[in-house]
Formats: sequence, structure tokens, C-alpha cells
Amino acid sequence: MKVTVVGAGNVGATVANVVALKKFAQEVVLIDIKEGVSEGKAMDMMQCSHALNFDTTVKGVTNDYAATADSDVVVVTSGLPRKPGMTREELVGVNAKIVKSVVEQALKYSPNAIFIIISNPMDAMTYLALKSTGLPRNRVIGMGGMLDSSRFRYYLSEALNAAGHPATPSDVDGMVIGGHNDKTMVPLVSIATLRGIPVTQLLSKEVLADVVQKTKVGGATLTGLLGTSAWYAPGASAATLVEAIALDAKKVIPCCVYLEGEYGEKELCVGVPIVLGKGGFEKVVDVKLEGEEKAKFEESVEAARAVNAQLGD
Ligand code: NAI
Repeated sequence: MKVTVVGAGNVGATVANVVALKKFAQEVVLIDIKEGVSEGKAMDMMQCSHALNFDTTVKGVTNDYAATADSDVVVVTSGLPRKPGMTREELVGVNAKIVKSVVEQALKYSPNAIFIIISNPMDAMTYLALKSTGLPRNRVIGMGGMLDSSRFRYYLSEALNAAGHPATPSDVDGMVIGGHNDKTMVPLVSIATLRGIPVTQLLSKEVLADVVQKTKVGGATLTGLLGTSAWYAPGASAATLVEAIALDAKKVIPCCVYLEGEYGEKELCVGVPIVLGKGGFEKVVDVKLEGEEKAKFEESVEAARAVNAQLGD
């Protein structure tokens, strides 16, 4: 498998590094517009291969899309990250131009690639990538739900530990759907469990409301601490999507995809659980939404549509 990562900044370099560490790809190409940065980061990663025992070749290039030719997966991280106090949606104008141009260039050299979109506002950038390339919907997938679900599991595990129920984030099962948006993402409390036990039986309503709120602003919390947006969990989450495609794992992961009637919605990209395998997204998995969670998902859809409206034609 050959993987291209566009954008060699914090997130892109982490994606490339984690893909190499996971050992499922033969080649990773890191491409950026900043002269020397991709080359330097790729060389640094290659110099880990002895210590970390991987054989993946990581190559860095500046603006040279020919080097990305015949990639199976293209991960798009190019664009500005938010600064403390900013919303992801404020990045729409500048990042739309970047994302449109990079997906079009990458597609010329890798006509069969599956695209994973990370640049923010991710739901709108996924929609833009789909519309501007005209690719079938199974080959354009946005990464946000995997990250938000990891944050949800982390905050649930903290609350469970505080309530006397020992839990690591990986002991907890939990999923976030809807937009990758501070206000409208939907952590699904109703189906979250600790070793099979519903968290609603272990934590009070107030504690669960606090976990939901912390999850929603999880990205902003890190942006406040770091001065820019996070990269370890975003990079690891994206690499997990690439791995599911490479291994044809048929894993169910919440991702941003174009809906054609699923969840009662169409003509937009938003986060829902999907089956991910070698063809990209193979199907949408239906989770029965009720009450507040259903209403919140509908709000999320409206918010995503409002950002798409800013993309113009
Ligand atoms: P960064 O600033 O560290 O890296 C971005 C890189 O993109 C820079 O190296 C820049 O030179 C490059 N770039 C800009 N225009 C380009 C072009 N036309 N072609 C190739 N490369 C280009 O930013 P970071 O932290 O890596 O974030 C990248 C994007 O990912 C941001 O939009 C951020 O908001 C988003 N993000 C999304 C997440 C998600 O869950 N979907 C999570 C974290 C970040």
C-alpha cells in the first residue's frame, strides 16, 4: 500500500509517522508547499526505522505530485489550524481554496485513491472534496468522529475512575456522531458502556452532562493549552482509518461521509458510523437515535449545511 499525506505540519507528520510505525504500508509520501520541511521530517522518520524496526519507506517532497503517483490512500491535512478562541468554521474560506487545489492535483496522479480529509472545518472540506473531484462517495471520508470518540472515551474514563469504577479509555466503548463541531457534535451517552455495563447505570446525569460538554470542547481545550490544535490523537485517528482500509478490516468507525437518505438526511457530509474496508466506506451503520440525541443530530446536520452554504459554487 502507498499512502500520501498532504501537509507535513503537526497532524500530517504524525499521520505519516504512525502509519510507518504500524507497518502495514510499503511507502508513505509526505508533501507540503514549504521547501525542505517534508524532506526533513521524512528523513527524521526514516532514521527511526532501525530503532523502531519498521520497513516502510517515508519520502518527503515539496510540491511534487508526481512522487505521489498511484497512491491507494491520500490523507489531506493541508491548511491552517485554529488558534485559541477560534472556531473550526472560521477557517472555511482559506482552507477551502487549499483543499480544493490539493485534492484535484492528487487525484490527477492517483485516480484510484481513497481520500481522507482532515483539514477544518472538516465536514465542509469533505463535502467540498467530494463535489470538486466528482468521486463516488465511498472514496471521500472525513476524519473527526474517531478523534471525538477517543476524547469521549477519555473523559468517560476519568469520570468513571472518579466515581470508583476503574477504567482506562480503552475499557470504555463510546461513539460521537454528527458534525466535528464544538457546539453540535453528538456524544452518544445512551449506548456508551464500561466493559458492557451502560455508563448511565454508573454515572449521574450531571456527571454525564459534564463529560459531554468536555468532549465537545475537547479540541478547544487542547488549542488553549498548546496555542494551536492537537496532533497526536488526530494523527493516530487518521492512521487508524488508513489501516482499516489497508487491512480491509471492515471496522465500524464514526466518519464524515456523504449521506444519501441514511439517518433521514441527504446532500451533505456529516459524521455517522460506517464500515471501513478496502473500498473505503462500504456502508453506513444505523444507530437508532431517539429523544435528545436525535434532536442534537438534526441540529448538527443544520450546522453542517450552514457551513457548506459558505462554500459557494
Ligand atoms: P500545521 O500548520 O501544523 O500544518 C499544516 C501544513 O499544511 C503546513 O505545513 C503547511 O505548509 C501545509 N500547507 C498549506 N497549504 C498547503 C498546500 N496547498 N499544499 C500542501 N501543503 C500545504 O497544521 P496542523 O496542526 O497539522 O493542522 C492541519 C489541519 O488539520 C488544520 O486545518 C486543522 O484545523 C485540522 N485538524 C483537523 C482535525 C480533525 O479531527 N479533523 C484535528 C486536528 C487538526
